[in-house]
Amino acid sequence: MQNKNTYKNISIDGPAASGKTTLGEELALRINYKFLDTGLMYRFVAFRSLLDGIDVNNEKAIVDISNNIDISSFDLQKGEVYFQGKKVTASLKERNIDSTVSLIAKYSLVRKILVNHQRQIALNNNLVMVGRDIGTVVLPEADHKFFITATPEIRAKRRFKDLLFLNNLSYEEILYDIKKRDSIDISRKNSPLIPAKDAIVIDTSEMSFDISVIEIMKFLEVL
Ligand code: DC
Repeated sequence: MQNKNTYKNISIDGPAASGKTTLGEELALRINYKFLDTGLMYRFVAFRSLLDGIDVNNEKAIVDISNNIDISSFDLQKGEVYFQGKKVTASLKERNIDSTVSLIAKYSLVRKILVNHQRQIALNNNLVMVGRDIGTVVLPEADHKFFITATPEIRAKRRFKDLLFLNNLSYEEILYDIKKRDSIDISRKNSPLIPAKDAIVIDTSEMSFDISVIEIMKFLEVL
């Protein structure tokens, strides 16, 4: 359980490509909080595993990598991740990482190690933390909890637009990936993706980005 925290924490959870990260970043900027996208931590473990040629089924080796993660690799101001002095944030979002990270995120020991880091960061900062299990598991005592969602088709459409000039994935391929990741995230035994009982659920399927930000800010008048 989380220790008593003198700092304020806001959790934002939601499925892949729901826009939670962009919303969380914008929110943190507006209210002058630090920002942590916990998905990048799981992605970093996947990245390091692939770099070392570790099979995704080799749980022990992946746990070892998680144990050796240096938390200063994550910049809470700029949302960047560094490895050996180089920015690797863009590499963490490539498709080969997308397809392995959900499998790695199922390992309970990996989760335990990363959750400990996440709680430590939350204890020391006014923070917007984004992920899948923040309101339910990582910060059950968060001051405000949001669950951002949208239909798989809308999420795929938005992701397709974002990636248009970066790679040549079709809308159908993106939709397939999103549905597959949803199914792994929702059905896994450890910390499955579900809204916390006290989370405010915001479906942005019919909302522009600006309206979604306004919708969240409405609930934050008293911070
Ligand atoms: O939000 P994202 O797509 O960058 O997350 C990458 C993966 O990490 C995704 O498969 C779910 C997992 N994840 C998780 O299990 N718990 C979190 N708090 C954040 C991400």
